[in-house]
Amino acid sequence: MTGKFISLEGGEGSGKSTAIACIKTWLETEKIDYIMTREPGGTVLAEEIRSLVLSSRDEEVDDMTELLLMFAARAQHMSQKIRPALKQGVWVISDRFIDSSFVYQGYARGGDLDILNRLTKWVVGTDKPDATLLLDVPVSIGLQRVALRKNADRLDKESTIFHEKVRQGFLEQAALEPSRIKIIDASQSIDRVSAQILVQLNTLKSAWQRNV
Ligand code: TMP
Repeated sequence: MTGKFISLEGGEGSGKSTAIACIKTWLETEKIDYIMTREPGGTVLAEEIRSLVLSSRDEEVDDMTELLLMFAARAQHMSQKIRPALKQGVWVISDRFIDSSFVYQGYARGGDLDILNRLTKWVVGTDKPDATLLLDVPVSIGLQRVALRKNADRLDKESTIFHEKVRQGFLEQAALEPSRIKIIDASQSIDRVSAQILVQLNTLKSAWQRNV
């Protein structure tokens, strides 16, 4: 089977780290070659852009600057890490990808979705995720989890209204592309969330094997 590309999405405090640990264990049990990566970031330069765009600062960050930095990091990540891995048949698991741009810079900031579509065509082309797991959790629960973190970033600190828009944006993305984006109810216990993830991964793998 060729390398598959899976992205993981969700609002703040949706439990991505726990989900990643569960996905890792599954990939190792299945003896699948994989890389784990994240956005913004994933390469040395893209991680530097991550620090620039996520750090809290006195200067106001323009919405367009934020959007373009996300895509600059993504261009580097695609060319240096994601495409080479997929070409070698290695699975790529990315903690966030393109849906985060549509949701944070598009739905939540009010960015132009047409520009986002054009940038996506340019930077990502046909190398879109084969599947996306969306960890959905009510904002009140997600923000309670984030409040326990010491190192909240610039976006973590946005208003509750912003985070509500993020949640609705992800659900709208999922409604637009139900065959790619699978919703996981992340308000449940860790065991139940992991069980839902495993069902999705096993279903996806069987479907992909049938289509080889
Ligand atoms: P996280 O990976 O720790 O959740 O932090 C990444 C932050 O960056 C998160 O608040 C979502 C945000 N982000 C965007 O706004 N646009 C993007 O395209 C990506 C990949 C992330």
